[in-house]
Amino acid sequence: PPRGERLYEGKAKVVYATSDPGLVRIYFKDDATAFDGRKRGTIGNKGRLNARISAHLFRVVEAAGVPTHLVAVAGEQELLARRVEIIPLEVVVRNVVAGSLARRLGLEPGRVLEEPVVELYYKRDDLGDPLINRAHVRLLGLATPEELDRIEAMALAVNRALRVYLAQRDLILVDFKLEFGRTGDGLLLADEISPDTCRFWDRETGEPLDKDRFRRDLGGVEDAYAEVWRRLEATA
Ligand code: C5P
Repeated sequence: PPRGERLYEGKAKVVYATSDPGLVRIYFKDDATAFDGRKRGTIGNKGRLNARISAHLFRVVEAAGVPTHLVAVAGEQELLARRVEIIPLEVVVRNVVAGSLARRLGLEPGRVLEEPVVELYYKRDDLGDPLINRAHVRLLGLATPEELDRIEAMALAVNRALRVYLAQRDLILVDFKLEFGRTGDGLLLADEISPDTCRFWDRETGEPLDKDRFRRDLGGVEDAYAEVWRRLEATA
């Protein structure tokens, strides 16, 4: 298909301009990376599955009142989205101890948190995406205090909506990462919501159905992504 100008290429997605200056096409790649790009591979069908899973979950959070950049599913592995200025913050919400939280604070993986924990990371590959706090956000001029309040409120609203929705599909939402963008008329949830950016555990077995299968060489990566999509699609 004819493509517009390539505006941005990341590890998992490519963003293209369209004939409408307010819209972009986001192409989801099959490429997978982990540990700051030190581990690389491909996951069969990942682009297609992540585009579909993201679109589906964006619709779920929209229904809960959180505006997103999603406009439509545009092709096999593409979404049409509002063009935004991405805020270089990775906003992580956690419900269960896993990953870097377990390592950093010496906590037992699998411990259920009484309250969700929100963390901010500065999205900068050359610095390894460091954990930062509100004062650092101000210092770096990444967002105003008002924007940060809104971002944290939106992140918690996303968590409430997705937790319930996924629990009904026998998936535990352990944690996830969000990115937000600015438009002329306010902040939108942007980027993706997929097994690349979330931890989903099967409620029965506790098995990860997400990128941890790739990070930890557990095998069955494509099947896990397909299983997440199957559980969403079955009840679309
Ligand atoms: O590695 P960590 O435990 O901090 O990851 C928390 C959550 O954020 C996980 O769901 C992970 O997939 C996601 N994440 C991400 N992109 C990053 C870092 C973390 O999607 N650069």
